[in-house]
Amino acid sequence: MGKWIPSSSGGGASTRLATWALGLLVAASGALLAQPAAAQIANTKHNLGTSPGGTGVNKFSGTAEICVFCHTPHGADTSAAVPLWNRTLPAPASFTTYDSLGTSTLDGKIAPVGSVSIACLSCHDGVTSMSAVINAPGSGTTGDAAWQAGTWTGANQVGGKIAPGLITNIGTDLKNDHPIGIQYGGGGLKNSTPAAATTDPDFKVASSAVIGANRVWWVDTEATPNGTRQKTDMVLYTRAAAGGYTGQTENEPFVECASCHDPHTSNATFLRISNAGSAVCLACHVK
Ligand code: HEC
Ligand code: HEC
Ligand code: HEC
Ligand code: HEC
Repeated sequence: MGKWIPSSSGGGASTRLATWALGLLVAASGALLAQPAAAQIANTKHNLGTSPGGTGVNKFSGTAEICVFCHTPHGADTSAAVPLWNRTLPAPASFTTYDSLGTSTLDGKIAPVGSVSIACLSCHDGVTSMSAVINAPGSGTTGDAAWQAGTWTGANQVGGKIAPGLITNIGTDLKNDHPIGIQYGGGGLKNSTPAAATTDPDFKVASSAVIGANRVWWVDTEATPNGTRQKTDMVLYTRAAAGGYTGQTENEPFVECASCHDPHTSNATFLRISNAGSAVCLACHVK
């Protein structure tokens, strides 16, 4: 992905004043509130190894690394557009998609399960062991002895798979989950120009920018949209015409798991913003 812009950029004078006041508050209350951004994922359920801080009950003894369960610096899986992905992705056809529920209100078309969603589902489908990675730490092969000798502990897993029956086990039937791999805007955008209106006015207008060679889209979550993509915006995922639904003729923005979730944040349930007042839902839906 492109560069994230720090959330303090682009703020007006009042934002800067508030940031400054918050700084004082943090300083006055000592180390309690100060948390370096780099330590975020370490303090979440996505820290699966022995590195300190992980809040989940699932633990693998084979490594003190954090990123390796999901990313590798070399030799990554490129069958979906996910950065440096260290896991073999499930077959899109192994999932039942939301549209097969047949709600009469659904306007958008659903693409085969892919993009970042299939990366999340490479653990959350509960099918493959979470330590089944392409490149084990250090060795560059899955044959690494220390990694292979590792064992899983914790009540929420069975053999390193997320245990059946848990709400975190999304499974392969996605009919009971918010649609993913779905065109944004109740049937897409009217055209691919910046700030194009959505087909269904029940959706907020998406922002967009060309980063590198690609146009990327997102939905600003600030009260006054600042037009820059931040981790705390609802990120939309560009799916290429060839990989989308039948009949898709241009690259378009889609809603995927990571539109609402950031797998690295220490926010509750990995949400990009707090869902108080249903702010996550109202970021996209005009209701
Ligand atoms: C549980 C799986 C998981 C773990 C563990 C994980 N990541 Fe990620 N990471 C992802 C996914 C999924 C994406 C794509 C998300 C997106 O597009 O916003 C991603 C995207 C990224 C990106 C590009 C987008 C961004 O948010 O900046 C970077 C950089 C990154 N990860 C670094 C790391 C590092 C460094 C670690 C270890 C400290 C780590 N990740 C651990 C799942 C993970
Ligand atoms: C990133 C944008 C986004 C966010 C955030 C979001 N939605 Fe949606 N939602 C969509 C899109 C796009 C659709 C597909 C609508 C369509 O094509 O008819 C949709 C569909 C739905 C549907 C209707 C599906 C149908 O069968 O007609 C419901 C209900 C819904 N969302 C509820 C929610 C709730 C509740 C939240 C908050 C937890 C939420 N949404 C957050 C974009 C979003
Ligand atoms: C390497 C495996 C793995 C990957 C990949 C992964 N997760 Fe997780 N995730 C877990 C585990 C393990 C838990 C804790 C499950 C439990 O204890 O019930 C978890 C928990 C969660 C939770 C619940 C957090 C809470 O506080 O209850 C959310 C939300 C979540 N993951 C979202 C995602 C999303 C979204 C992605 C993709 C962007 C993703 N995960 C990718 C392993 C993974
Ligand atoms: C439209 C927004 C949206 C999308 C898309 C979305 N989620 Fe969520 N998800 C949420 C919200 C909001 C919550 C928090 C619900 C709560 O706290 O009651 C949540 C909760 C979760 C949980 C934790 C359940 C719990 O209560 O502990 C997991 C795991 C999870 N999501 C995984 C995923 C995965 C995997 C995908 C993609 C297949 C996905 N989510 C797509 C909005 C979304």
